[in-house]
Order: sequence, then C-alpha cells, then structure tokens
Amino acid sequence: MELLKDKIRKEGKALNHEVLKVDSFLNHQIDPVLMKAIGEEFASRFHKEGVTKILTLESSGIAPSVMAGLAMGVPVVFARKQKSLTLKSDMIRARVYSFTKQESNDISVASKYLQPEDKVFIIDDFLANGEAAHGLLSICKQANVKVAGIGIVIEKMFQSGGKKLREAGIRVESLAQIEKLEEGKVTFKEEEYC
Ligand code: G4P
Ligand code: NA
Ligand code: NA
Repeated sequence: MELLKDKIRKEGKALNHEVLKVDSFLNHQIDPVLMKAIGEEFASRFHKEGVTKILTLESSGIAPSVMAGLAMGVPVVFARKQKSLTLKSDMIRARVYSFTKQESNDISVASKYLQPEDKVFIIDDFLANGEAAHGLLSICKQANVKVAGIGIVIEKMFQSGGKKLREAGIRVESLAQIEKLEEGKVTFKEEEYC
C-alpha cells in the first residue's frame, strides 16, 4: 500500500535492525486519514470472505480495526491485556509471550462476543514473531469460530511470524512488508502486482 509505505519512509524511524518506531501515526499519535485508507484496503482485500466480526488486541490494533469494521459494516472486538474486575466470567483466554518485553501475559475476550456462526478477521498493527496472532487464533479456536485470515499493517519479514502462519495455511495480508531495517533506513519487499 503506497500511502502507508510513503508515511513509513517519511516518519518511521528504524531504531536498530529489529524495531521500527511509528509513534507519529500508529502507536501513539494516530493519523485518521491514513487509518481510514488502511481500513478500506483491508475491507477490499477481504470483502469476499463473509466476515462477520473483526478481532484485534488492545491498544494499537484498535484504530486500524475500527476503520476496517466501518468499511466492512461489522463490529470490532479487542482482546484485553488487563484482567478486568467487571468482566470476570465467561472469558476466553490465551497466553502471549512478548519477545520485546520478555514476559508472558494473558489476553482475554468475553465469550459472548464470539459466537460459533461468526467468521472472524484478525487485525493487528505489527507482525513480528507472531505471538499475538497465535494468541488471537487460539481464542478463535476456543470460541469455535471460523477465521477468514489475518490483516497486518506492518509486517517485518525478517522475523518468523508471517512465514509460520502462511505455512499453517492461514491467509495473511500485510499492507507494508519490511525486508530489512538498518539504523535510519527501511527496505520494503518488492510489491507484487496482481
Ligand atoms: P509478536 O506478537 O509478533 O511476536 O511481536 P512482539 O511480542 O515482539 O510484540 C510486542 C509488542 O511490540 C506488540 O505491541 C507489537 O505490536 C510491538 N512490536 C513488535 N515489533 C515492533 C516494531 O518493530 N515496532 C513497533 N513500534 N512495535 C513493534 P504491544 O505491546 O501489544 O503494544 P500496543 O499494541 O499497546 O502498542
Ligand atoms: Na504495538
Ligand atoms: Na500490537
């Protein structure tokens, strides 16, 4: 997606070989115009899948998911990271290990928001090692729902998440695919035209 890649070229900062900082439009401040375009791009890539619900993870997955939900006309559910006092019963949980933070955390979704007839489109901001995606897939499996696929805003191709998910037969669509990060430089994977 050219608009997104331009934004990354202009405002993204490669902190090192592994981490891309995009606080100015995705992870802290949010660019609504770009988010709307991202939502529409996800919608156009998945419009034939019969999606009934979008599932994401708080916090940075919410903005692109809401825009996709608006474009697709379906509700958006975000898995919570914190245990909530008011949402304790009937929660579906999964354990997610974070390489960045080197710790495991539970994520949870109230079971009433995922019904067996649902077809779920999973969306997240980054795909690195795929731990968050696996956690969301585990929640879908426990809820007995179908998964249409996974939409990712920025995929880091040099980490193993995308490869593992695609090898497992899951459709993964990433709007920007980064092949390499060097301090101050971002190299994208060549676009495939179809
Ligand atoms: P994984 O899920 O693919 O295995 O990734 P990892 O454990 O490394 O991700 C931990 C957090 O770091 C996630 O956000 C993820 O979105 C984010 N992240 C991973 N790689 C990058 C990167 O290169 N740049 C930025 N900016 N973020 C990255 P989170 O902790 O869930 O935070 P948030 O959703 O509240 O923002
Ligand atoms: Na994040
Ligand atoms: Na995230």
